[in-house]
Amino acid sequence: MQEMIRVGILGATGIVGQRFLQLLDGHPSFAVTTVAASDRSEGKPYTDACTWRLGGDVPRAALGLRVQAPEPPLDCDVVFSSLPAEVAGPVETRFAQAGYPVISNSSAHRLSESVPLVIPEVNPEHLGLLDTCRDAMGAGGGFIVTNPNCSAVMIALTLAPLAARFGVEAVVVTTLQALSGAGHPGVSALDITDNVIPFIAGEEEKIERETRKILGRLQGGRVAPAGFPVSAQCHRVNVADGHLAAVRVTLGRPADPAELREAFASFRALPQELGLPSAPAQPIVVRDEPDRPQPRLDRDAGRGMTVTVGRIARDGVLGHRFVVLSHNTVRGAAGAAILNAELLLAKGYLKPGA
Ligand SMILES: NC(=O)c1ccc[n+]([C@@H]2O[C@H](COP(=O)([O-])OP(=O)(O)OC[C@H]3O[C@@H](n4cnc5c(N)ncnc54)[C@H](OP(=O)(O)O)[C@@H]3O)[C@@H](O)[C@H]2O)c1
Repeated sequence: MQEMIRVGILGATGIVGQRFLQLLDGHPSFAVTTVAASDRSEGKPYTDACTWRLGGDVPRAALGLRVQAPEPPLDCDVVFSSLPAEVAGPVETRFAQAGYPVISNSSAHRLSESVPLVIPEVNPEHLGLLDTCRDAMGAGGGFIVTNPNCSAVMIALTLAPLAARFGVEAVVVTTLQALSGAGHPGVSALDITDNVIPFIAGEEEKIERETRKILGRLQGGRVAPAGFPVSAQCHRVNVADGHLAAVRVTLGRPADPAELREAFASFRALPQELGLPSAPAQPIVVRDEPDRPQPRLDRDAGRGMTVTVGRIARDGVLGHRFVVLSHNTVRGAAGAAILNAELLLAKGYLKPGA
């Protein structure tokens, strides 16, 4: 039987931390052995420290665990991080310097020159930065791999087949983002009921910069960002889970909407070829009904790992447009990090007992 990789979750009591635990329950390669959170939770049994906010029970792996401080050493082979960005930066660096592979969902290191920002279907070759990252972290052999912001992931995932087939010259994105994206307790009910908030701190810059890094080229040991401009406007809306984005795009050559549809629907990549456990059969599903995608109906497509595209049409200003929806705490957070870890395992970067 295959030896399991022992996983520690930093930020295990939060919205994304709980999703990590849920998605790792019964995983064929990863077993959660450690949970860590703030000093509010430290020393408590996980079930006392955490109000479980997902469907079903607290996964068995967490039942006997006490919450640790998020500092090395921890009893695990790899750490998954869902700490707030301001805490994650130095903590993740300390784990990598101590020799741990760090699979991070936080924004702190995403744009660091030596840190890969990876969607396994889009830019697995950016793992080529890991030698530079290991060198930067010292002799212990640790490194950091990040997944994108919860909106950038669905935007980059849908632009990838368009860029490959037609070229991309300009992108304008307007997002409608779910409440769970703000963590718990997040936005006050009095602020969001009967309302839309046209501001999410740092989000527009993250989408603009991360999308260009993900779709950029690895050249000479660094990533040259994609050359096209990305403009984003973000809104918080009264939806529990599922971020939606209206995307307008100028392509490098003329194309019919039917060609875009085909490019999305036929898109398959390395995770599907490798049969990674969290990889959906189809990374992108196209819905042809005029009123789809919708958060409540489409966020769970492919167990939350498939993004759903609809409303593909010509656009009178930029050329083409479509709407994309994705589950923000699965494909946009914990599921994305787990898929990165599965890719790292398949490529030999993770080892039990390392
Ligand atoms: N929610 C999403 O859809 C989403 C998507 C993509 C990325 N992210 C990113 O993922 C990270 C976590 O988000 P979340 O939504 O899960 O947030 P959350 O629900 O607020 O959870 C935060 C977690 O971090 C811990 N924590 C807070 N302050 C800490 C400190 N000073 N030292 C150590 N641990 C601390 C909390 O522990 P206690 O319970 O002990 O306070 C909790 O476990 C953030 O960086 C966020 O930007 C979130």
